[in-house]
Amino acid sequence: MIAAEDLQCLKALAVRGGCHGPIFVSTQSIGEMLGISQQTASRRLKGLETAGLITRVLSADGQHVTVTKAGEEVLRREYQEYCRIFAEGGKSYQLSGAVVSGIGEGKYYMSLKPYKEQFATALGFEPYPGTLNIKLAPSSVTVRKKIDALDWTRIKGFSTDGRTFGDARCIPCQIGTIKCGIVVPGRTHYPEDLIEVIAPIALRRKLGVEDNDSINVEVGP
Ligand code: CDP
Repeated sequence: MIAAEDLQCLKALAVRGGCHGPIFVSTQSIGEMLGISQQTASRRLKGLETAGLITRVLSADGQHVTVTKAGEEVLRREYQEYCRIFAEGGKSYQLSGAVVSGIGEGKYYMSLKPYKEQFATALGFEPYPGTLNIKLAPSSVTVRKKIDALDWTRIKGFSTDGRTFGDARCIPCQIGTIKCGIVVPGRTHYPEDLIEVIAPIALRRKLGVEDNDSINVEVGP
C-alpha cells in the first residue's frame, strides 16, 4: 500500500511524462508542483525509488526520473478505481426525506393536458393528478445537486385561455419498485431541499404514507 503523498508525487511525475521516458526534474520544481518544500520533495523521490516505483539518474542540477513498470501499475490501479467511481451506468443516487403537503397546486398543473401528455412521453406513464412533495434530509441536498447534472427532459410551457404556463423538467426515478419521476418547475427560485414526485398512481395511498413519514427515492442509473 502506497502512502497518499507518495502516490501524489508519483502521479505528478507521470503527468509530466515519466511513464514514457526519463524526465528531467529538480526537487524545487517537484516541490512547487505539489506545494511541498524542496526537502520534502527530495525525500518523496528517494522513497519512491526505494519502493521500486521510479528510477533516478542524478546530475548536478537535478535528476532524470523514469516511472517503473511497478510504478505504472500503482497508477493504473488508481485509474481503475476512478473509472469505477465515474463509470456510466454506475450506481444510482439515493434521496431520502419526509412527505410534506404543498398548497394543492400540483393537482391543478398535473391535470393540464399539455403537461400530462409531455410527462407521459418523457416518463412512460400518465401521471396521477398531483405531485408528492418530499422535503429532503440535509444529507440528501448534496445528492440532489448532483442529480441536476444528469439528463433531464424539458417539458415545454404553453399558453391557454390567456394564461401562460412555464417550462419544467423531469427525470425518471423510483420509489421502491414504482416507476416515478421528479418534476422541477422552471421558476428560478426553487427550494434546494424539496422535490416533487409524480407517479402513475396515488403514492400516499399505495405506500400508506402521511405527512412527516420518511420516504426514499432512487434516481438512475
Ligand atoms: O400540493 P399538494 O402536496 O397539497 O398536493 P397536490 O400536488 O395537489 O397532490 C394532491 C395530493 O395527492 C397530495 O396529498 C399529494 O401528496 C398526493 N399525491 C399522491 O399521493 N401521489 C401522487 N402520485 C401525487 C400526489
